[in-house]
Amino acid sequence: MTLLNQTAIITGAGKGIGRATAFALAKEGVNLGLLARNHAELEALQQELTSTYSIKVSITTADISTRAEAERAVATLIAELGSLDILINNAGTATFGTLIDMEPEQWEQIIQTNLMGTYYVTRSSLPTMLAQKSGSIINIASTAGERGFATGSAYCASKFAVLGMTEALMQEVRKSNIRVTALTPSTVNTPLAVNAGLPIGDEDRMMQAEDVAELILAALKLPQRVFMKTAGIWTTNPQ
Ligand SMILES: NC(=O)c1ccc[n+]([C@@H]2O[C@H](COP(=O)([O-])OP(=O)(O)OC[C@H]3O[C@@H](n4cnc5c(N)ncnc54)[C@H](OP(=O)(O)O)[C@@H]3O)[C@@H](O)[C@H]2O)c1
Repeated sequence: MTLLNQTAIITGAGKGIGRATAFALAKEGVNLGLLARNHAELEALQQELTSTYSIKVSITTADISTRAEAERAVATLIAELGSLDILINNAGTATFGTLIDMEPEQWEQIIQTNLMGTYYVTRSSLPTMLAQKSGSIINIASTAGERGFATGSAYCASKFAVLGMTEALMQEVRKSNIRVTALTPSTVNTPLAVNAGLPIGDEDRMMQAEDVAELILAALKLPQRVFMKTAGIWTTNPQ
């Protein structure tokens, strides 16, 4: 299925998986609405994309953990793009620490961003997709959404919740021809992983952001009659 001239919103597009996905979709001729908090990163990305590809790229800064900001950002991007076919819920944050040691504010921030932010952005995007009776939503969860580990209580809770929300929404909107998919990558070599002190190891064997973007593209290119419910991808580098 061609993605040419479709429109996509990518949250957390400034770096890591979101940025790689922006390039992968741009190459397919998808017009992009990019969202993150860091304006300079978005502006540089917009410049790079529009100088390489003949697509429209809109950017807006927003903190998706705040409902009003998430709603405003999605409304702005849809208005500028004129439509919305694809939503990539990628923005996320990770801090690790034992449940007893983590400050409640840190714990709340992870849930507020990874779960509530994903919910706010999705809820703001859905009316457009429901009206046109088509669309694809891809939520970037994690292996941390499938199994808990010590120091991961907040991150795991947020990603388990995203998987639950994904499956419930999938059942709600499949009859409207809207596909909802969750991806559960293991460690990916991105600023998030590096900053969180996750083992990156041998770069040649460690999964890269571009690899996740390839899977996102594959999911989006499936014929509209079929969709990928979840997909787990693992790095070959043993940790
Ligand atoms: N890297 C991994 O090992 C790994 C594995 C499995 C799943 N994931 C998931 O993959 C997704 C992308 O992660 P990544 O590794 O690419 O991370 P990253 O390199 O840190 O990029 C995260 C992006 O999200 C944005 N963001 C964070 N908080 C935000 C907020 N409150 N509002 C708006 N934007 C926000 C960041 O930009 P600003 O700071 O400018 O807002 C950045 O553009 C996350 O959901 C993560 O949980 C990552």
